[in-house]
Amino acid sequence: MFGALNEISFRRAVAADGPAVVALVESAFRGEGSRIGWTTEADLLDGQRTDLTEVGALIADPRSCMLLAERGGTLVGCVKLVREADAGVIGMVSVVPALQRAGIGKTLLREAERVILSAWGLRRATMTVIVQRDTLIAWYERHGYRRTGITSPFPYGQPRFGLPKRSDLAFETLEKDLGGSSPPEGDPPRVCHGGPDEKKTSSGWTRTNPS
Ligand SMILES: CC(C)(COP(=O)(O)OP(=O)(O)OC[C@H]1O[C@@H](n2cnc3c(N)ncnc32)[C@H](O)[C@@H]1OP(=O)(O)O)[C@@H](O)C(=O)NCCC(=O)NCCS
Repeated sequence: MFGALNEISFRRAVAADGPAVVALVESAFRGEGSRIGWTTEADLLDGQRTDLTEVGALIADPRSCMLLAERGGTLVGCVKLVREADAGVIGMVSVVPALQRAGIGKTLLREAERVILSAWGLRRATMTVIVQRDTLIAWYERHGYRRTGITSPFPYGQPRFGLPKRSDLAFETLEKDLGGSSPPEGDPPRVCHGGPDEKKTSSGWTRTNPS
């Protein structure tokens, strides 16, 4: 097993992290190796979950970020965040399969919500989940997300989203009201921020008024 969760640190991915992020997401979502974890898309989809083009664009776009969880400098998890007008969109929540079931996923989810609420000032988190993934949806429900009943079709015929193993895949939108959450503990997250005294550079956000 591994050490306490408080050893986990978060940072915003930069361009150089792209290949490691793609490898992590692919290993968690698809393929035989992902079955070590407790939830995977391996029974539903083959092919890729993402690629460097998509991850590179997420990292480069100031309206989105890839939040990395590291332990001892090693990547153990990641989550995609996209800033929309009235909500932060969470996606690609991934934990190294062999390290799952130990609380890293919950910690990532909490940090993602903290960024949306404290750094972006948005009181709603949303995500889309494949409706057939009952146990995953139950996990999100245990962490405060509610099913909206709003569905959208899976993008069949577009291999960059994967190769479906069945013909009835669809997404459902889940959402969580973060306004009802307890006030976030500690300082606002320094990642994915872009506040008045922070500046985005090619290597990420840096403070223009160091203190
Ligand atoms: C979803 C994911 C991020 C969770 O990460 P994790 O580190 O395992 O999460 P945690 O350890 O915090 O929580 C594990 C939860 O699974 C539950 N669990 C463990 N084994 C389980 C099983 N066989 N069946 C159902 N639930 C199970 C635990 O009880 C725990 O629930 P709780 O949070 O209510 O206590 C991780 O499984 C993953 O990367 N999955 C593949 C990628 C994916 O599908 N991402 C989500 C889509 S966006």
